[in-house]
Amino acid sequence: HGTSRVNEQGHLEIGGCDVTKLAAEFGTPLYVYDEALIRSKCRAFVDAFRASGFSFQVAYASKAFCTMAMCKLVEEEGLSLDVVSGGELYTALQAGFPVERIHFHGNNKSLEEILMALDAKIGCFVVDNFYELSLLAELGRERQEKIAVLLRVTPGVEAHTHEYISTGQQDSKFGFDVISGQALQAIRQAETSEWLELLGVHSHIGSQIFEAEGFLIAIGRLAELLDEARKEVGFVSKVLNVGGGFGIRYVEGDTPMPPEHYVQAITKAVREEFQTRELPLPELWIEPGRSIVGDAGTTLYHIGSQKEIPQIRKYIAVNGGMTDNLRPALYQARYEAAIANRMNDKDTETVSVAGKCCESGDMLIHDIALPEAKPGDILAVSSTGAYGYAMSNNYNRIPRPAVVFVHEGTAELVVKRESFADMVSHDLLPKGSKVMR
Ligand code: LLP
Repeated sequence: HGTSRVNEQGHLEIGGCDVTKLAAEFGTPLYVYDEALIRSKCRAFVDAFRASGFSFQVAYASKAFCTMAMCKLVEEEGLSLDVVSGGELYTALQAGFPVERIHFHGNNKSLEEILMALDAKIGCFVVDNFYELSLLAELGRERQEKIAVLLRVTPGVEAHTHEYISTGQQDSKFGFDVISGQALQAIRQAETSEWLELLGVHSHIGSQIFEAEGFLIAIGRLAELLDEARKEVGFVSKVLNVGGGFGIRYVEGDTPMPPEHYVQAITKAVREEFQTRELPLPELWIEPGRSIVGDAGTTLYHIGSQKEIPQIRKYIAVNGGMTDNLRPALYQARYEAAIANRMNDKDTETVSVAGKCCESGDMLIHDIALPEAKPGDILAVSSTGAYGYAMSNNYNRIPRPAVVFVHEGTAELVVKRESFADMVSHDLLPKGSKVMR
């Protein structure tokens, strides 16, 4: 998919770049991003909204993959940006991202983070709880400035997804609960505060969602809430943010919809639910993360050792693992892969791909058909663009890989590979200790 193809040498090519050359030039593990594919995903969401007639913002959820180059690309595509920490905000600011298009999320923003965002004059805060609501009102008064907010509410929807990544259900650490009336109470509080400008409400029901159903239920509940808010508080919502969570294909059997279908289902539902209640149509915001970058990313590894247990299993090991892709260990996430330097080999055997970390759970793929692997072969694992680099770590003191963007035959290094020196650069030896080198 995207700009991937098999070239004349039988090598995998992405963005016009032979991946064996990328591996040689930049080393492995290496995250390779197909820039054209990211842009086409951005455009699919934007174009679908344009066609709908709604005013809109598509905010890229930077948690999926947050680097300065990515912020820049997203800016060029006209998207907004969802950040959830001082670190993501800092990255966006360093990349020169337009501040008015930054939305700040999070269930426990620190005072320092809030002040950093206020000083930067970001577009809005997505307020998660009563503590933050009071804190922002107080800061607005102190600074004599009105702070734009959205309220994150949990509409009581369980998206069919992994427990750790579903968030819209009532028992969630995020947001104001709709069912018990907290959401309405928060709306009242925000609307009557002199120092808050309540733009609207937000909900995010989960991640890696394949069907429109969950969004439609959530939209119904949000419309009900806003109907009540108009009657009881006189509040009319300018903005409705229905979050992200649009699924992508990782392996056969995954059946996400294309971006425009999610948008079409959402815009249709909002129109119906709001019109039947005679509520004015809001500006619609969404926050896709995974569906923007997920399938644009491929991780390249070198294959090293192998182990075969007769009649049981053959392991092939790569020079990365749960340090660059935590998702299989954390969520039993599944991936497809290919031996990138021998794409046309037809004879395959079933193997399991192991990482190099000292932990039995560090397996990238269980039972995949691959051509017989030799040490030095390059394994390309696809659809690793979201929450791969973002959740990478230094377990076993393994340095984080480099990241390249590829486009029309050119590869651009956008994140340098970490070095051993980088890893010890924050270590301090106790005062007075002697090091003999
Ligand atoms: N908006 C909010 C408020 C969110 O909490 C999230 C994701 C998104 C948008 C973007 O969701 P997406 O479109 O990427 O599904 N680490 C997990 C995913 C955690 C998602 C957390 N929130 C994984 O690797 O699957």
